[in-house]
Amino acid sequence: MELRLSVCVLLLLCAVKSSNGGKILVWYTEASHWINMKPVLETLVDRGHQVTVLIPSASMFMNSSEPSRFQYEPFDVDISVKDLERLFQDVLHFSLYEMDFMNPYEISVKFFDLMKNNMKISVKFLDGVVKSKPIMKKLKEGNYDLLFADPIYPGYDLIADILGLPLVLSLRFSIAHNLERMCGQLPAPPSFVPAVMSKLTDKMDFSERLSNVLFYTSQDFLIRQFMWKPIDEYYSEIKGTPTSACELVGKADIWLLRTYWDFDFPRPLLPNFKFVGGIHCKPAKPLPEEIEKFVQSSGDAGIVVFSLGSMVKNVSTEKANMIAAALAQLPQKVLWRYSGQKPQTLGSNTRIYDWIPQNDLLGHAKTKAFITHGGTNGIYEAIYHGVPMVGIPMFGDQPDNMVHMEAKGAAVSVKFNFMTNESLRDAVNTVINDKSYKENVMRLSKIHHDRPMSPRDEAVFWIDFSFLCCFHQGFLRECAFVGEHLGAFSCISVFLLFLPQTVYFYLIGF
Ligand SMILES: *[C@@H]1O[C@H](CO)[C@@H](O)[C@H](O)[C@H]1NC(C)=O
Ligand SMILES: *[C@@H]1O[C@H](CO)[C@@H](O)[C@H](O)[C@H]1NC(C)=O
Ligand SMILES: *[C@@H]1O[C@H](CO)[C@@H](O)[C@H](O)[C@H]1NC(C)=O
Repeated sequence: MELRLSVCVLLLLCAVKSSNGGKILVWYTEASHWINMKPVLETLVDRGHQVTVLIPSASMFMNSSEPSRFQYEPFDVDISVKDLERLFQDVLHFSLYEMDFMNPYEISVKFFDLMKNNMKISVKFLDGVVKSKPIMKKLKEGNYDLLFADPIYPGYDLIADILGLPLVLSLRFSIAHNLERMCGQLPAPPSFVPAVMSKLTDKMDFSERLSNVLFYTSQDFLIRQFMWKPIDEYYSEIKGTPTSACELVGKADIWLLRTYWDFDFPRPLLPNFKFVGGIHCKPAKPLPEEIEKFVQSSGDAGIVVFSLGSMVKNVSTEKANMIAAALAQLPQKVLWRYSGQKPQTLGSNTRIYDWIPQNDLLGHAKTKAFITHGGTNGIYEAIYHGVPMVGIPMFGDQPDNMVHMEAKGAAVSVKFNFMTNESLRDAVNTVINDKSYKENVMRLSKIHHDRPMSPRDEAVFWIDFSFLCCFHQGFLRECAFVGEHLGAFSCISVFLLFLPQTVYFYLIGF
C-alpha cells in the first residue's frame, strides 16, 4: 500500500515536471547508429525537450551544418575524416575480400589489429571532450538532466558519472553481449542464447552449444584485454582513483535495445532492458513520378528492391557484372542502389540509382523481394512492410542478422565471395515463388506491429521516465539485485549446457 502511494506521488511529480521539458545531452556516434538516433531525438524535441548533441570535428555521418532542430556542441579531435574513412575501408576490405580466405589465426591477428586502431581513434575522440577545459566547463554549466548514448564510442559513462547524470543507452548489440551481460547484468545462458556474431540460433545441438560457450568466453577475454583494460586505465587517470568502466556503464538506468521479438530469439530479460527494434520505421510515402512509372511498368511480376546499405556504394567490376547478370534473368523489374560504373551485363529490367527511397519502395504494393546486405535498419524496414529478403551479408553483425531471418523462414542468404549469377537469381526466385517466405515475414510483421505503442514512442517514454521519476536514485534499479543473482545462474548454466532447454527451465524454476 505504502509503495503504491509513493509511486503515485512520484508519478504526480513527473506530471508536474514534464510540462517544463528537460535538457538532454547526447553522446557522439557514427554511421547507421546516428541514422537510428535521429528519429528519437526529433521525437524528444516534439515533446518539448531541449536536445544537445556532442559532435566531433571529424565524422563520416554527423554534420553540424545540417539544418536540424537540436543543438550541437562541437569539439575538436586530433583526427581527420580521412583517418576514419581509412579505418572503415580497412574493416570493409578485410570483411569482404580477405576473411573468407584466411585461417582462424590470421583472422584473429587482423581483427585485433583493427580493434587496436579503433581503440586509438576512440581515445582521441574522448580526449577531445574530457581533456578540453572549455568543453568540460560548458558541459558542467549546461545543467543537463540526462545523458543519452549509443555506446559505440567509450566515455559516455565517465561523463555521466562526472556530471552526475542519469544514463540511458540505446544499442543494437555489443560483441557476445559483453556490455549487456558484464555491465548490465543481463543473463545470457549459453545453452539457448546465441552470442551476437556467433551465427548461431536458439536451436543448438551439443557442438553448437559448446562453440557458443567458447565464443562467449574467448570474446570476454579479448574484450577485457583490448577494450576494458585501456579504458579502465584512462578513466582511473582522469578520476584519480581506480575506476572500473564496466561498473559505470552498469549504472545506466535504461537500456534500449534496438531489436524485438520479430527479429530476436526468446531470452531472459531484466526490467530495465527495453526492446525497441524498428525505431526508424514509418509508413511509405508516394514515390517520385519517374520511379513510380518504372514500378508500374512491372505489371503483375512486380519489383525487386536492391541496396547494399549506406556504407557500401560500389563493388568490383567483376562482381557488379555477375550481379547484373543475375538480375537480368528475373521476370521482375529491379531498382538497384549502386554508385559504381554501369555494369556491361545490366539487363533492360534493371535500373541503377545513386539513391533510392528505400522505405517507400519496400512499402509499395508491387514489391516482391528485397536484396539486402543485412543491416538491422534495412531488415526492420522489410519486416515492417512484410517483404521477404535475400541477404548478401558483408561485415559486422550482418551475417548474424541474416541467420536470424533465415531461422525465421523470412530470408535466403548467398555468400558475397562465392555467389554466382545462378545462385543469386535462384535465391530471389525462391523467396518470391515459395509462398512460405512471404507468410513468415508477414507473421514477423504482425509481431512487429502488435505492441501497445510504437518503438519510437516507447524509447521516448523510457527516456522521459528515467529523469522525470528520478529513478536513477534507485527506483527501478532494485532489479540490478535480481540481475546479479541471475548472473550467477548463467555461470551455472554452462554446466547445464548439455540439458535440453525444457529441463533447463524446469531446474531454474526451483
Ligand atoms: C554538411 O551540411 C551542409 C548543409 O546541409 C552541406 O552544405 C555540407 O556539404 C555538409 N558537409 C558534409 C561533409 O557532408
Ligand atoms: C569503389 O570506389 C572507390 C572510389 O571511387 C574506389 O577507391 C574503390 O576502389 C572502389 N571499390 C571497389 C571494390 O571497386
Ligand atoms: C552465369 O554464370 C555462368 C557460370 O557460372 C556463366 O556460364 C553464364 O554465362 C553466366 N550467365 C550470364 C547471363 O552471364
